[in-house]
Amino acid sequence: MRNTLACARNSFRLLTAIALFSCFLPASADVDTGRQLYRSYCSQCHGLDGTGNGINAPHLEVAPRNHTDRSEMITRTDEELFKAISEGGQSINKSVLMPNWGKTLTEEQITDIITFLRALCCLDL
Ligand code: HEC
Repeated sequence: MRNTLACARNSFRLLTAIALFSCFLPASADVDTGRQLYRSYCSQCHGLDGTGNGINAPHLEVAPRNHTDRSEMITRTDEELFKAISEGGQSINKSVLMPNWGKTLTEEQITDIITFLRALCCLDL
């Protein structure tokens, strides 16, 4: 009995330690940062809600991707999205109207945006 109690107490201490420790770990990819970046850099074409209806959209010959379209978005790998964002639409045989952001955004910022895109299309945020 005493052993069981001691064991439970130790497990509790261990869990508390892990919980505390994880608070100090840097967040890896961040949906909120991704959302803010998307609003600043992408929404004028892709729309604030990501459906592709941004203020520039009516003036573009090729419609900006609807990033909320789950059936399309799940066919793209993270690597493909990264390449499209970093090197522009042309790099993945899409329209040059999709600009390249590799010199504007850091790799970490692009990763945050991809995390946001995944949440937008597929997690019903
Ligand atoms: C000037 C308008 C414009 C801006 C700004 C813009 N895009 Fe695009 N984007 C487009 C267009 C147009 C396409 C569609 C290209 C096609 O289908 O040929 C596209 C396509 C894409 C694709 C490719 C989707 C696929 O079909 O695989 C991704 C990913 C993407 N945009 C992400 C972004 C992100 C992230 C930003 C902001 C950092 C951004 N775009 C900013 C116009 C824009």
